[in-house]
Amino acid sequence: MNARRTAIVTGASSGIGMALAERAVRSGWNVFAVGRRTERLEELARKVELANGTLATLALDVRAPQAAKKIVRGALERFGRIDVLVNNAGGVAVGPIAQQTDGALAEQVETHVVAPLALTREALPALRASRGHVFFVGSGVARVPVGLLGAYPPVKAAVRNMTRIVRNELRADGIAVTYVDPGAVATEFMTRAGFAGPPPGLAASPHRVARRIFDAFSSRRSVVNGVPWQTFVVAIAEALPGITDFVLQRAPQIVLGDAPLPATPVEPALIAPTEPATIDAAPLDPVDAALVAHASRMSKLKMSASYVRGLLVPGAELELGDVALGWAGMPNKNERALTNDVLDALAGAGLLEHLEPEHYRVKAD
Ligand SMILES: NC(=O)c1ccc[n+]([C@@H]2O[C@H](COP(=O)([O-])OP(=O)(O)OC[C@H]3O[C@@H](n4cnc5c(N)ncnc54)[C@H](OP(=O)(O)O)[C@@H]3O)[C@@H](O)[C@H]2O)c1
Repeated sequence: MNARRTAIVTGASSGIGMALAERAVRSGWNVFAVGRRTERLEELARKVELANGTLATLALDVRAPQAAKKIVRGALERFGRIDVLVNNAGGVAVGPIAQQTDGALAEQVETHVVAPLALTREALPALRASRGHVFFVGSGVARVPVGLLGAYPPVKAAVRNMTRIVRNELRADGIAVTYVDPGAVATEFMTRAGFAGPPPGLAASPHRVARRIFDAFSSRRSVVNGVPWQTFVVAIAEALPGITDFVLQRAPQIVLGDAPLPATPVEPALIAPTEPATIDAAPLDPVDAALVAHASRMSKLKMSASYVRGLLVPGAELELGDVALGWAGMPNKNERALTNDVLDALAGAGLLEHLEPEHYRVKAD
């Protein structure tokens, strides 16, 4: 039996789940990675071939019959223990909620609510033995019900609600339960459902959110906010429902982007994974757009945009510590954190390739 700690990560074939699986394996964990697209799981396996930890993959729809049993059995057969379960798999729906087909409604409930609860239940004996940890990935729309996303907001509200119940139920077993509010993250999540997604400068990189989730593997905190200021804005919007509905009805693109919505409800099976759609031409160039969210901290801490631009030599490898040293001399905690967020933002905007934690390569174009 392998004594290394083991995490199951669902939705590990792209986005946050893939970044988290990669980070955990590089940090020496065993990871049992689940997603539907085999080629993407193979891509992940290639990325971490030489890492300290071990990756095993299972291509499976979490809604398939017996999926929870197969995942838990697979992880135990391969690694002998389960310390962390990250219920991350999910996709957004499309269209007005009152026009959703039965299939689209069922897909949302099954993917985001039924499958994570079933998986948690099946993993319980192993989690009790390890005094383990369960994560449920929610969303800002759990608190602010945004329209045109089908049943996605109400099911994410259910995820937030059930997280508290599961936490209370499992406390006596010594199992930690964490709710994740990722914020707006630059993944395929919106684009594959036909939305433009948030403006590039506002979306966090999946690596940044993955880092926060991974840090909670040891801190066992009960809530992880991927982008804290966005959670703060959501909390205000939740407290002011009248104003929020007024604004969202007039400007849904604040959340949904400007891509045209499909005219009719779409059966989930027909929403084929696509390459990310081109986001409407932004008025800013890609570097400025990536830095927008950090502009006020950069100005406060005196990190200049020209220093950041100077780093972007095609093919150059960047290490967080060196980059921080380059502009801050002996960087303090805040300066290092800003450097990290800026590098993550550049990676999220596709300007850097993430090689391993805190290491990047500047992309050629
Ligand atoms: N990105 C954001 O702005 C944002 C904001 C709030 C919340 N979230 C939540 O964050 C989580 C991760 O999303 P992401 O942004 O990383 O999006 P993503 O890049 O599209 O990743 C979603 C992952 O879930 C997997 N998945 C979806 N349905 C599945 C199913 N039925 N069975 C197995 N795997 C399935 C997908 O892989 P396959 O297609 O290969 O199965 C993929 O690996 C989701 O729960 C999402 O709701 C994201």
